[in-house]
Amino acid sequence: MTKILVTSALPYANGDIHIGHLVEYIQTDIYVRFRRMLGEDVIYVCASDAHGTPIEINASKKGITPQELVAEYHSRHKEDFARFEVEFDEFYTTDSPENQRHSERIYLKAKEKGHVLTRDIEQFYCESCGRFLPDRYIRGTCPKCGALDQYGDVCEVCGATYRPTEVVEAHCAICGAVPTLRTSKHFFFRLVDFRDFLIEWTSEPGRLQEEVRTFVRGWIDHGLQDWDISRDGPYFGFKIPGEEDKFFYVWLDAPIGYIAATEHHCSSRPDCDADDYWLNPASDTEVHHFIGKDIAYFHTLFWPAMLEAADYRKPTAVHVHGFLTVDGRKMSKSRGTFITARHFAAAVSPWQLRYYYATKLNNSIDDLDLNSEEFVHRINAELVNNITNLISRTVGFLNKRLDSRLGTLPQETRNLQGGVIASVRKTQELYAKLQFGAAMREILAIADLANGYVQERAPWATIKTDPETARNDLTFAANCIKIVTVLLKPVLPAYCRLVQDILGVNDLKWADAAFDMENRSIGTFEKLMDRLEAGTLESLIEATRLVGPAAQAVPTPEVPEFKEEIIVDDFARMDLRAAKVLTVESVEGAEKLLKLEVDLGREKRTVFAGIKGSYAPADLVGLTVVVIANLKPRKMRFGVSQGMILAAHDGQGTVKVCVLDDAVPAGTPIK
Ligand code: MSP
Ligand code: ZN
Repeated sequence: MTKILVTSALPYANGDIHIGHLVEYIQTDIYVRFRRMLGEDVIYVCASDAHGTPIEINASKKGITPQELVAEYHSRHKEDFARFEVEFDEFYTTDSPENQRHSERIYLKAKEKGHVLTRDIEQFYCESCGRFLPDRYIRGTCPKCGALDQYGDVCEVCGATYRPTEVVEAHCAICGAVPTLRTSKHFFFRLVDFRDFLIEWTSEPGRLQEEVRTFVRGWIDHGLQDWDISRDGPYFGFKIPGEEDKFFYVWLDAPIGYIAATEHHCSSRPDCDADDYWLNPASDTEVHHFIGKDIAYFHTLFWPAMLEAADYRKPTAVHVHGFLTVDGRKMSKSRGTFITARHFAAAVSPWQLRYYYATKLNNSIDDLDLNSEEFVHRINAELVNNITNLISRTVGFLNKRLDSRLGTLPQETRNLQGGVIASVRKTQELYAKLQFGAAMREILAIADLANGYVQERAPWATIKTDPETARNDLTFAANCIKIVTVLLKPVLPAYCRLVQDILGVNDLKWADAAFDMENRSIGTFEKLMDRLEAGTLESLIEATRLVGPAAQAVPTPEVPEFKEEIIVDDFARMDLRAAKVLTVESVEGAEKLLKLEVDLGREKRTVFAGIKGSYAPADLVGLTVVVIANLKPRKMRFGVSQGMILAAHDGQGTVKVCVLDDAVPAGTPIK
């Protein structure tokens, strides 16, 4: 049997998994579960991407080692993936001995064959930090539009790209010092040596989506530049063998992490040999990568070229998806649409996101939109009113009125059965082509048909005169439910396990999508899901915006750095006042919000505060708190907030309001 290896891109161990990442992990997980249900031999591996400058710098800011930071995020990522039912066979790390060995081996092979060269390059160096500064660590004024405080390579205001040396008043993003230019020797991988190979590799049918092939061809035609694969220390990564203070650039060892993860997984299994996937050219294996379009260059050019240079096997296919937008716009912290996986899971059932993404995924590289209204509508119309309702009315009726026993499939449903079986085949093809959205439509059509059949046959009427006919009619519906459950299982594993229990079957495989349940008893209906409230996602977005990204659980309790110096006048502009809390109510539909009525002596004000997680309304009434009284009123979805309450915030979700002595009268200025 063909051995299949599937990977998702290795998430940087430098921040929480968010709903954008989840597009990819959910897409891949659905594909893996689908192929497994067909009985295929599939392993799904992933790893933390551990190396690189941002991880090293963030760790040093927190006063911990990069390894500690990586370990922290590694376990958080594991938890997040488990919540969303993304089930890797292996979730390893790129900072591993296996990865070091393969990275050195690939590099040395490429070097031996003359594909690596060295060249001196000039780069910004921060004397006070003692390090070379990657483009992202240079800040300054955009040379094109003059916008202040832009990155060293791209302006977020006008979109211009430029070299860091063109930036006006460049300074170090870490310490603010003015960097100097320094020369150092770098190692380059000669991508152009692989031009012919890449043309051939990318032309193979099935390797890339058509649209991806087109732009990869564009890159090749445009000219393949040498790729800078080294970085000077201090750097968190693998040392380049035979060199002093030179390290592999994170993107050299990151994809090799796929190999390391495979090897680590296989070391714990007798029936699995990593060489079959990555070295042995004769083995019957497939390797499928799933990635976002931002990293296609690495996976369709550098990666196959590196493998070719070192005589490794090349991937069978690279599947590229687009980026997530929320309500039509790029995810953004300030709009509250940058929602972490754990934050999302606290408010909405993870499997509902799995279903929604499935309806949106069609093997295209176009961006896909999470639309808050459509989200609720689809869950309610498709999962609740159509599928869950079919299960509840069919099984509920069999439970209550027909002793939970199935009869035989009515002869007259022969044609209908044929139609459903054709849909099963169609669904299989669609899953195989990653057209999950179209597959979901096919599945819904089966549930529609079964619902229509039950409606038309009206077993609640027939049962009075002819209970066996009612039983047989519902037997058709029960078989449709089983088939729908099989087809939906790659997308909704946990939900479908519940349905399996309700039907009294277990471990449904693809081959079980057939009309073969007759004359047997079934289980008992249990509530499967509730309708989603209108506004569920809007409230989550609003709450995320109010509490800010900081409250979205940053690991390691951290004392933030002090902000930039201000003068007394800056402070004096803030009108801080003692305020008595009069009434407090919880804001319906907002996870974190409380609405407070406060007395400021001269007047009463309404203030919204994102503190529901830390206080019950009654805890606050009567307290004397501190309010910024001259803050511009802010219009929110739930009303206008006329001020803000001072509170201690640990950056992890715990908020403690600043409380004054009760003797302080309302309205007293605080200086
Ligand atoms: N560490 C690299 C990948 C190395 S693979 C050898 C990386 N990590 S990432 O954490 O930034 O992204 C992981 C995956 O999530 C990438 O495939 C990326 O395209 C995808 N996504 C990140 N943000 C996304 C959206 N907003 N929408 C859809 N996918 C997104 O890149
Ligand atoms: Zn510096």
